[in-house]
Amino acid sequence: MSQRYYIVGNWKMNGMRAALSEARAIDRAAQRLPKVEVALAPPATLIAAMREAMTNIGVGAQNCHADDKGAHTGDLSASMLREAGADFVIVGHSERRADHHETNGDVKAKAEAAQAIEMGVILCVGETEDQRDSGEAEEIVARQLASSLPNGCQRLSVAYEPIWAIGTGRVPQVADVAAMHKRLRGVLVDKYGEAEGGAVRILYGGSVNGDNAAELLAVPEVGGALVGGASLTADGFVPIIVAAA
Ligand code: G3H
Repeated sequence: MSQRYYIVGNWKMNGMRAALSEARAIDRAAQRLPKVEVALAPPATLIAAMREAMTNIGVGAQNCHADDKGAHTGDLSASMLREAGADFVIVGHSERRADHHETNGDVKAKAEAAQAIEMGVILCVGETEDQRDSGEAEEIVARQLASSLPNGCQRLSVAYEPIWAIGTGRVPQVADVAAMHKRLRGVLVDKYGEAEGGAVRILYGGSVNGDNAAELLAVPEVGGALVGGASLTADGFVPIIVAAA
């Protein structure tokens, strides 16, 4: 893989201002490991302060609204998040698809809203445990991705996150990760063509930690990791960055 690995921490609904000390330690480690592209997506309340404090890593948001402004109480547009300091936004995380009933169409619209103002996008897809057990996971996730993809692939990454692996300490077999990423690469190439679709990074997410990162990152077509729990502290996250270096 010629591109640098992209290692992204998703803090989800965790982190008060005191947690910026962890982000600073992660930022310092990233300075020593320039072969890896590192980013954190804190809660929206911390984006501006984190952006201010970071010099070596990207800062992103965990969601955006598809509209630029309007009567959407409690929501934030991509341009608001960018103004606060976000370089990218995560869209379609399974927790948002489940908790907020976000459809593939919603995810596509959010991705396009972010791309329209030149923000990066990390678009998440993944299967449930029942879908994995049914033997249909690849087909289901490929369809989910095809229906969620924005029209263009500028500044786009995809994250494959098996829902049953998120926060559980369980990870798929390496062969299953390889097969899924190969399948998703095919979807990207079908949609965007060989050159552009081939260049979209596909991250793996779900219980990545310092012990399993090297093995997961070595899987063909794995271009990085989307990390939840282990990204909340420098002790948890830096070993993953080191594994990617
Ligand atoms: O966005 C991150 C993923 O949901 C993975 O979370 O590393 O805590 O399993 P996790």
